[in-house]
Amino acid sequence: MQHPIGIGLAGLGNVGAGVFKHLQNNRTLLRERLGLDLEVRRIAVRNPANRAEEGFPAALLTENWRDLVDDPSVQIIVEVMGRKEESLELILAALDAKKAVVTANKALLAEHGGQIFESATRNQTPVFYEAAVGGGIPIIKCLREALVGNHIDSIHGIINGTSNYILTRMTDGDLSFQEALAEAQAAGYAEPDPSFDVNGWDAAHKAMILASLAYGFWIPKDQIFVEGIEQLTAADIRFAKSLGYKIKLLGIIKASPHSEGSEIEVRVHPTLIPRDHVLASVNGVFNAIAVHGDVVGEVLFYGRGAGQNPTSSAVLSDIAEAADAIQRPRRDLGFIPHSLYGSCKPIESSLSEYYLRLTVEDRPGVIAQIAGILGELQIGISSILQPESDEEGANVALVMMIHTASNSQMRNAVERIDALSCVKRPPRMIRVEHFS
Ligand code: HSE
Repeated sequence: MQHPIGIGLAGLGNVGAGVFKHLQNNRTLLRERLGLDLEVRRIAVRNPANRAEEGFPAALLTENWRDLVDDPSVQIIVEVMGRKEESLELILAALDAKKAVVTANKALLAEHGGQIFESATRNQTPVFYEAAVGGGIPIIKCLREALVGNHIDSIHGIINGTSNYILTRMTDGDLSFQEALAEAQAAGYAEPDPSFDVNGWDAAHKAMILASLAYGFWIPKDQIFVEGIEQLTAADIRFAKSLGYKIKLLGIIKASPHSEGSEIEVRVHPTLIPRDHVLASVNGVFNAIAVHGDVVGEVLFYGRGAGQNPTSSAVLSDIAEAADAIQRPRRDLGFIPHSLYGSCKPIESSLSEYYLRLTVEDRPGVIAQIAGILGELQIGISSILQPESDEEGANVALVMMIHTASNSQMRNAVERIDALSCVKRPPRMIRVEHFS
């Protein structure tokens, strides 16, 4: 047996503590499978004295992450601090010191992936990031390895557990958005600042990583479309249900047409999906990612997208791969850039079907005025739902399902419809996906 591979663990929060525990518990199993022994040699934490009191080995603890980079016995640095500037500084310093990096930092990769992988290439040192997307679901490794022979046509992902929990409770428990969010926070599912969970940006960071990996270039943040679930109401959930749909926050990644040189779409938004589609039955905090490859067809990944143990499992897989990469030089340093695909498609030209909910006065001619605007803009209506009202002249909901239209067509239509005197509240538009 060779000398153990030394690990420097930066961060001992929920994920870091889990990684430390499972590395000890499964050390023998990992040794048998890898033919290598993995040993934590240094741990960087904010307050070493407190962590030593909790039982972590005092001799390994340091307040300064630079000690990990400077320690010649550390070959792999595991960044689970989850910070911004400091995590980036650590990762770049580790790569310059030719130490393999494992990180769970989705926001950092989404925003600085290009810079991180330039450094990885320059230093010929790998960066692995399985835990950054989908917690314990091995989606990154599958895109990099198992699906390497496929052009990726599309990826549809429920990749934020908190918002999926909120939507599930709004659907099955008839809760309001605020009540469901309070439940998610009480259960400890939401991020410390839940705004990233509900405004779509946590899912967007993950979608950017998946899209970058699928298409070989780092997707710029300003070229994706992101909308959260904060504006969803119980009425939208109910109408969607009565029309045969469920509402999910989806990360949608598509190459169209499905071939080399095509434009890439990356969007995150609440989406009506047919209730018999498999993603509609993904409930609570679970994540699921449906990938369509040109050779394999549809593949579905399902599991826990967060939590200490699932996330630790993903980090252990990265540590194992990093340990292997240290043994033999390789081409794949975690991300292989190429220029087979084009650029990102502007959201204005992105096509979708839509659910449009209006609050209108119940009087003759209202539907004709609205249909007139849609007709002038070449937008087709596929169905109309208006619950019966008791009294003529009262405000009523009017729900229209819209055939495929571009984002800019719909934006024009919504602006003009909103300006009608019979329309009493801002129109609510939600995209619809049929997975064709
Ligand atoms: N806050 C995230 C979620 C978990 O709710 O899915 C970690 O990415």
